[in-house]
Amino acid sequence: MSRQGSSARAAAARVAASVEAGQHLPQALDRALRRAGLDTRDRGFCTELAYGSERWRSLLDHSLKPHLRRPLGDLDPLVRAILRQGTYQLLKLGLPAYAVVDSSTDAAGEVGAGRARGFVNAVLRRVAERGLPDLPTDQVEALALQYAHPRWLVERWVGRLGRDGAEALLRRNQEVPRLVLRLNRRRTTLEASLSAFAATGVVAAEVPGLSYALALQAGGDVRSLPGYGEGHWQVQDVGAQAVGEAIGQAEFFLESACGRGTKTLQQAERQSGRVTGVDLDPDRIREAEQEQRRLGLLAEFLAADARSLPDNVSGADQVLLDAPCSTLGVLQRRPDVKWRRGPEEFSARGALQAELLRAACRACAPGGTVTYSVCSQEPEETIVPVKTILADGGFVLSETPPPCAETLTEAGFLLPGMFLAQLRRIA
Ligand SMILES: C[S@@+](CC[C@H](N)C(=O)[O-])C[C@H]1O[C@@H](n2cnc3c(N)ncnc32)[C@H](O)[C@@H]1O
Repeated sequence: MSRQGSSARAAAARVAASVEAGQHLPQALDRALRRAGLDTRDRGFCTELAYGSERWRSLLDHSLKPHLRRPLGDLDPLVRAILRQGTYQLLKLGLPAYAVVDSSTDAAGEVGAGRARGFVNAVLRRVAERGLPDLPTDQVEALALQYAHPRWLVERWVGRLGRDGAEALLRRNQEVPRLVLRLNRRRTTLEASLSAFAATGVVAAEVPGLSYALALQAGGDVRSLPGYGEGHWQVQDVGAQAVGEAIGQAEFFLESACGRGTKTLQQAERQSGRVTGVDLDPDRIREAEQEQRRLGLLAEFLAADARSLPDNVSGADQVLLDAPCSTLGVLQRRPDVKWRRGPEEFSARGALQAELLRAACRACAPGGTVTYSVCSQEPEETIVPVKTILADGGFVLSETPPPCAETLTEAGFLLPGMFLAQLRRIA
C-alpha cells in the first residue's frame, strides 16, 4: 500500500470525477486500476472508495454542506471527490480521523490539486468533529438522505410500496452485494469449483434454486480468481441467471439484444441447438466473442438492429429479449446509476422496449416462447410492454414460476433485481 493509501485515494478520486463526467462506474474503475499500478491492497481500497462514495453520495454531500462556504458543485471535481471519499471513510468506514485527513490531503496533491490541500484538511477535520448532521423532518426527504437515493425515486417507491416496503428496498440497495458466478457446466462442476475456491481460501457458497451458481465472499479483480483463465465461470447475478434457467430447450435460441453476451453464453452451455446473440453495439459483440473464446462455447454473435432482424435470424423457438432499461433493479451493484436517472426516464425508453418486444415476437416461431426480462421492477418497463403484446393478440402469458421468483405481478414475475415474463406464441 502507498503511504497511508494516498495513491488509492487519488485513483478513486479520478474514478469519481470520470463518473461525474458521464462514464459508467465499472468501466471507469477498470481503466483507473489498469493505469494506477496499485498493489492488491490498494486496488481493493480504491474499489471500496469508488463504490462506497457513489452508494452514499447524497448523504456525504449533506454531511459536507455545513462546512463549506460555497456549493459543493462549484468545486473542482477531483477536490469534490476527495472530500466525499474522505467523508465516506470517516462516517461509514469509521477510519481514524488523523489517517483520513492526512492522506486525503496528500491525495489532493497527487491529483494536481495541491492548492486545495489546506481546504481539504480543514473541511475533513470539521466533518470528523461534527459527524452526521440531523436528518430533515420531512419523511420522504429523511428516507432519501438516510439511504442516499434521489428524492423522486423515494417518492415513487413510497407511493407504490408504502413506507415500509420502500424502506426495505432502500436498505437492500445500500448493502454491498456478493460476487455471484455462473459455472460453465461444459467445463467444470460445482464440486470441482468449490474445492478450487476452498484451496485458495475464498469462501464460496451454493445459491438455493440455481444449480450452477456460486456466491463468493471476494472482491477486487475477478480475473485473479481460480478458474477464470480456464473459462470455468462467468460473473452473473442471481436474478440474471434465473432468467436464463427459465428458458426451455430449443432447436434455435435467439437473444435479440444480447449486450456482452452473458445470457446468450449461458444458453450455449444449456442448449444443444443453434444459439445466436444479436446486439446493436459492435463493441459489445466483440466483447461477447472474447468471452465466448474464454469459455470455449459454441454460439454466433451478430451486430444488427433487433427492431428489423435479418431473415436468417428469424423463426427461433426460444427468443430472449433482455431489454435496455433504467437498471433501477440493480442499484446494489451499480450505485452510480441512481444519480443519472430522472422521473422522465420511462416514457422515452418505453417506446423502444415495446418496439423491441414486438420484433422479438415476430422472430418467434409458432408454438415458441418469447422471454422478456429487464433489470428493473418499475411498471412502465415491466408490466406495461407485456400487456401491450398481450393486447396485440397471438401470445399467452406463462404462469410457470421461474427459479428464484419472489412475486407474481399481473403480467410476469419479480426475481432478485429483475422482472421476467414468458409469452407463448399461439397464432
Ligand atoms: C440490458 S442490455 C442486455 C444485456 C445482456 N442480456 C446480458 O445479459 O449481458 C440491453 C442491450 O440492448 C442493446 N440494444 C439497444 N437497442 C438495440 C437495438 N435496436 N437492437 C439491438 N440491440 C439493442 C444495447 O446495446 C444493450 O447491449
